[in-house]
Amino acid sequence: MSFDTTTTNSDSPKPLAAPIWIGDLKIDPPILAAPMAGFTNYPFRQIVREFGGAGLIATEMVNAKGFVWLDEQEATHPDRLWGVADEPRPLAVQIWDNDPPTLAKVGHRLATEYGVSVVDINFGCPVRQVTQKAHSGSYLLSQPERMGQIIEQVVAACHPTPVTAKIRLGCTRDKINAIDIAQVVEGAGAAALTVHGRTAADMFRGEADWDKISAIKPYLKRIPLIGNGDLDTAAKVVSAFERYDIDAVMIARACLNKPWLFAHAAAALRGEPVPEEPTLSEQRELMLHHYRLVCERFGPEKGTVLMRKFACCYAQGRRGARDFRKHVARVTTPEEFQAVVTEFFPRDLVDAMAS
Ligand SMILES: Cc1cc2nc3c(=O)[nH]c(=O)nc-3n(C[C@H](O)[C@H](O)[C@H](O)COP(=O)(O)O)c2cc1C
Repeated sequence: MSFDTTTTNSDSPKPLAAPIWIGDLKIDPPILAAPMAGFTNYPFRQIVREFGGAGLIATEMVNAKGFVWLDEQEATHPDRLWGVADEPRPLAVQIWDNDPPTLAKVGHRLATEYGVSVVDINFGCPVRQVTQKAHSGSYLLSQPERMGQIIEQVVAACHPTPVTAKIRLGCTRDKINAIDIAQVVEGAGAAALTVHGRTAADMFRGEADWDKISAIKPYLKRIPLIGNGDLDTAAKVVSAFERYDIDAVMIARACLNKPWLFAHAAAALRGEPVPEEPTLSEQRELMLHHYRLVCERFGPEKGTVLMRKFACCYAQGRRGARDFRKHVARVTTPEEFQAVVTEFFPRDLVDAMAS
């Protein structure tokens, strides 16, 4: 389902979307930053928080068995939890596995020791490593009973911290069961449900089916429905609220390219004009600022390698992106990174400065 973004709400000063409640936690605005493995680490969450507009920010998914193993064998915790104990709230930590007691144990630690705002459980990951090998993530969509047991036990272990679930529409197009799953999720005590409008077999192919997300809403009596998939402009966020029966939205990939998108979408939902995109030199400054945060967290060597993929995301859709990608993919030191940015990003700015 594609988005009609021709409608605007500029005549109506009334907010299009009300805050939602996840348990006792108010999510305002109802725009959530998605968990993304390899991306939504501490520095990136800091960038999103600086722009504002995201009502709730999530970590990368954390494997519950890995947590327990590290805790017991090495008295340490997964690297993905770095910063979580002290960073600003609200913050959701996402966990994955298929064993109810293990997930409950880790949920409890996150709720009590880390004091996270929300414990989210991953039932949507379609990656083989997680589904075929670990019978977790979206694999569990074929086992609603197991999902119910997981949620019940995690909810009991985390109380009063709310527990949420993130799913896809089903395992395959001919086995779409999101409505049944949604009822299991709510019945087991979850405090919100996020639905990515694709099946696991789709991976990222085709378009997210927002009609199928919307169709779930009448079956939820108590908890908010958060729609997810393909929202990459403020206008599409507005359109999602106008056209579909959802309580909130979640944004993933687009914020890697535009971390200001939450703030812009929030303005649009308030009926305010959408701010201008940052200028090209502001975008360059942003990339360098992000790079400094990444180096502070990971050190210059690992930080430079890690920043390559973020830099490519920033460049995506800008003129000269291909050239920039080619060069940034090879940088290994802060000096090289700085030199490539100066020479290639963003192309229009580099050209303007040269002329
Ligand atoms: C690189 C990448 C990593 C992801 N990692 C996770 C994850 O750890 N947990 C999760 O629930 N979803 C994960 N997702 C899925 C997103 O949260 C989201 O559901 C999906 O990208 C659709 O939203 P979008 O169209 O706004 O990108 C990931 C997606 C991408 C592209």
